[in-house]
Amino acid sequence: MMRSLSVVILLLGLAACASPPDLAKAPVASPPVLGAFRGDAPVTTPAQWSERRVPLLRQAFLSEVYGERPDLGAAVVETRETLAVEDVGGATVEQWTVRLGQAEPARRFHVILALPRATDRPAPLIILELFCGNRAAVPGHPESVVENRDILPAPCRSTTLDPVAKMILGKRISGPDIATVTARGYAVAMFYPGEIVPDDPELAPAALAALQPDTPADRRGGALAVWSVMFSDAYDVLAADARIDAKRVAIWGHSRHGKAALLAAAFDPRFAAVIAHQSGRGGASLTHSTAGETVKQITDAYGFWFGAAYARQATSPSPDLDQHQLIALIAPRPVLLGSGMGDAWSDPAGAFRAAQGADAAYRLLGSPGFNATDMHDFRPGDGIVWWSRGGGHGVTTEDWDAFLQFLDKAMPAR
Ligand code: GCU
Repeated sequence: MMRSLSVVILLLGLAACASPPDLAKAPVASPPVLGAFRGDAPVTTPAQWSERRVPLLRQAFLSEVYGERPDLGAAVVETRETLAVEDVGGATVEQWTVRLGQAEPARRFHVILALPRATDRPAPLIILELFCGNRAAVPGHPESVVENRDILPAPCRSTTLDPVAKMILGKRISGPDIATVTARGYAVAMFYPGEIVPDDPELAPAALAALQPDTPADRRGGALAVWSVMFSDAYDVLAADARIDAKRVAIWGHSRHGKAALLAAAFDPRFAAVIAHQSGRGGASLTHSTAGETVKQITDAYGFWFGAAYARQATSPSPDLDQHQLIALIAPRPVLLGSGMGDAWSDPAGAFRAAQGADAAYRLLGSPGFNATDMHDFRPGDGIVWWSRGGGHGVTTEDWDAFLQFLDKAMPAR
């Protein structure tokens, strides 16, 4: 309880101290995304990009930032049940148990799938990684939703603190409004990735080691690598469902899960669009930026999110690797980078600079690229879309309005 309270107070403090991001002070993304890179000549054609540059950059991100992305074994749906849930506008809500591989003890996670009422054709899907667990994401928080509360982040663990968490982190921190999203025609699949690697510095190392027994510790993937693979595992089972349009599947993550979503999309081309909201350091914001959370701060507090090598970037940053290159790996698929003008910790200006830096790769691949002229310029039909609102770190109804506008353009009906 004390720990939960101190986290909440810390978050309140961070929100109160936030000063508006200053683009003028943020460094320009470097090196140029199509320029020479580690012995690879400048890229001038789409084929050079995909054949030469993409594998090089992917390898660099694994060995210098995230660690390897492990194969968690084939994803198999063990059980499916329909949940009786009110206040979802007539959407069908299901709970799936997904098993990964055949290892014992079994590795399982649970997916809440909400499907639009109209089922005349396969629905586009948004796959979300949840911050507060599955039960908090379902209206009424039914006991029938499988949950191990002990592994949830502190502010989400106790029911008494839920209203406080929502007050600080936004009304939609625990999930989107299912009625609204499904009424717009989207199916939504949500899961808590901590079921496979707990989001906890004490519990995660053993889980990560058990998932990657044959990988030397210095190359092992951190939690973000595993959570990113879980987006793909979820895709495997969900896209096989006839009610889902496998070509119109987007992934969504807030903050730590926004980092995982960017990594997932950089490696898995099946995702048609990505939303990374306030993903910050290790996400969309440039590592070489001088605002917001430092590499030292993030690796001191959350070193288990990353590969072992990332902590070294605190003192000797890779001069030629930065997060604009990660965003570029998603090109030409549309990506939305969300921010809050009071969320200094996640360094919005560093993310804006990264979007500018990724633009050339998007354009090379035929996308309209990034055209925002300032941090309030929302252009939902672009290749790289910048979204910003007032306020701090969290997920609001206003954010979801913007996300849906973006998805309507990024994944139009076929
Ligand atoms: C912490 C962490 C951030 C992260 C955030 C979140 O504040 O320092 O890097 O993005 O948690 O996931 O909400």
